Amino acid sequence: MAQYTTHEFDVLVVGAGGAGLRAAIESAALGAKTAVVMKSLLGKAHTVMAEGGAAAALQNADDRDSWQTHFRDTMKGGKQLNFYRMAELHAKEAPDRIRELEEWGAVFDRTPNGLINQRNFGGHTYPRLAHVGDRTGLEMIRTLQDKVVHMAAEIFMEMTITHLLKNGNRIAGALAYSRVTGEFHLFKAKAIVLATGGGGKAFAITSNSWEYSGDGQALAWRSCAELLDMEFVQFHPTGMVWPLSVRGTLVTEGVRGEGGVLLNKDGRRFMFDYIPEAFRNDVAATEEEANQWVAEVAVGKRATVRRPPELLTRDVVARSIRAEVQAGRGSPHGGAFLDIASRRTAADIQRKLPSMYHQFKQLANVDITKEAMEVGPTCHYMMGGIRVEAETAMSTLPGLFAAGEVAAGLHGANRLGGNSLSDLLVFGRRAGWGRPSTRRRNPRFQPDQQEIEKAIADNLACFARKGGENPYTVHRELQDMMQDNVGIVRTESELKHALAKLDEFEKRVANLSVDGARAYNPGWNLAMDLRSMVVTSRAIAMAALERKESRGGHSRIDYPDYDKNFANVNHILSNKDGVMTLRAEPLPKVSDDLKQYVEEA
Ligand code: FUM
Repeated sequence: MAQYTTHEFDVLVVGAGGAGLRAAIESAALGAKTAVVMKSLLGKAHTVMAEGGAAAALQNADDRDSWQTHFRDTMKGGKQLNFYRMAELHAKEAPDRIRELEEWGAVFDRTPNGLINQRNFGGHTYPRLAHVGDRTGLEMIRTLQDKVVHMAAEIFMEMTITHLLKNGNRIAGALAYSRVTGEFHLFKAKAIVLATGGGGKAFAITSNSWEYSGDGQALAWRSCAELLDMEFVQFHPTGMVWPLSVRGTLVTEGVRGEGGVLLNKDGRRFMFDYIPEAFRNDVAATEEEANQWVAEVAVGKRATVRRPPELLTRDVVARSIRAEVQAGRGSPHGGAFLDIASRRTAADIQRKLPSMYHQFKQLANVDITKEAMEVGPTCHYMMGGIRVEAETAMSTLPGLFAAGEVAAGLHGANRLGGNSLSDLLVFGRRAGWGRPSTRRRNPRFQPDQQEIEKAIADNLACFARKGGENPYTVHRELQDMMQDNVGIVRTESELKHALAKLDEFEKRVANLSVDGARAYNPGWNLAMDLRSMVVTSRAIAMAALERKESRGGHSRIDYPDYDKNFANVNHILSNKDGVMTLRAEPLPKVSDDLKQYVEEA
């Protein structure tokens, strides 16, 4: 008999980023016995990487804004592949979720008349991002964390969930191991909320830290919940490119929101050369107009002209930087220059972007109040993920919920900056609400004992295996392969190559060897994470091969344009007896009251 400790909860939340914490608050408030299990420490989550702000039509910085405009911008940014009902709920509920956060103690920056201040970000028609300098995600996590602790949810740190357990077609619990002791823990639960974030660690250049190995997506798929639109991966245009040791670290879009401009090695402001037809009316046509916008915004005025092209959506800006580099006009380390020094005063920069100031000073010895930064695209976010229903955030597996980056549907083909933070508040709350059928008074389903024993044996197999591969070597090669073949631009032959390589990686991951004890064993931890990375990577590559067009975060050199045959199609990835299969499904029909905004988008 395998050894493990058993815990019983009504609701088990996996992940302690913003979505997980918000779900736990809601679930505990409903009286459900709630636990939060996290791979890392409380407070360490990718949420803090959404630095520049949370998008919500509060109308504080510009009273022309509305939830309808936010909805329209989100659909336009997502190239209309968004589940419109999620985009509607998100735009309508985001303002209340931000105000609620303020009531719980979040200290946002202020307008001169004392309201929560809002800044501009790419693709948002009006200044919409409630922010705390460039540390918004951090302040949100701090606030939610305080609240969750006071709600008496139980916290389990440094524990990785490796298997979801079912009873028939219903969630019954999950198996975890402690990274500290190496011991196993069984969590019995009536409902599980996955809030594990994305899977950027499958790519070589990423803003994600070690926790983000696509665990939630892989756990859900292995339990036969469906995944949606996995081809859409967001490469944030501005990550650090130098020094190499910090390559990929995020440089907030807030820099461009505050007026920062992108320049190539010849000093040319190249974004004017890359304005897509569909966005021509949204952004400034000349440098004079763009400069006027910065001058107005810098003194806190409502902009009377169109925003600069640096605030086009992230997919467009990332591809433009790549194109400049490919054309031989990149910066010395293969990126572009991002200059805020010549646009804003040193005092403004230090007040509005304090983290960026310190980040560049300490990591690159660059003073951003005097010099330009060197930046380039970095894998930042997955728009694809677990398919959920809009109202309850439940996946296609009864009792399994998902919220935040691990879930799909809200962002379509490309996410607007700042929509991630409001997403996790809106849908974290809805996931914590769940469905009445998953609540307290309902019966608990018993996990199957054989399934538990098998899961533990699977987890320990790499210790017994002698002469297998080293997890670090396999990880590095997987990252390089994904970066080269499934990265910011893709072709059929690269994607086919990636899928063939993933067959090999699957076998290699099943043949890993790990030495030493179970306590504090990073090799073992990585071996567990690699299982998730391979599943998530395969889902991305499969869906990317199938989508023979370019749309949002998915760019195919061999199919560089939109294709109307794919315009209304979502890709669903299912598990048929352990084999990943893909089918195309038509998008849900937009309700009549929202048609106008979708057409405008
Ligand atoms: O650039 C940023 O501050 C990131 C924000 C986001 O991903 O939403």
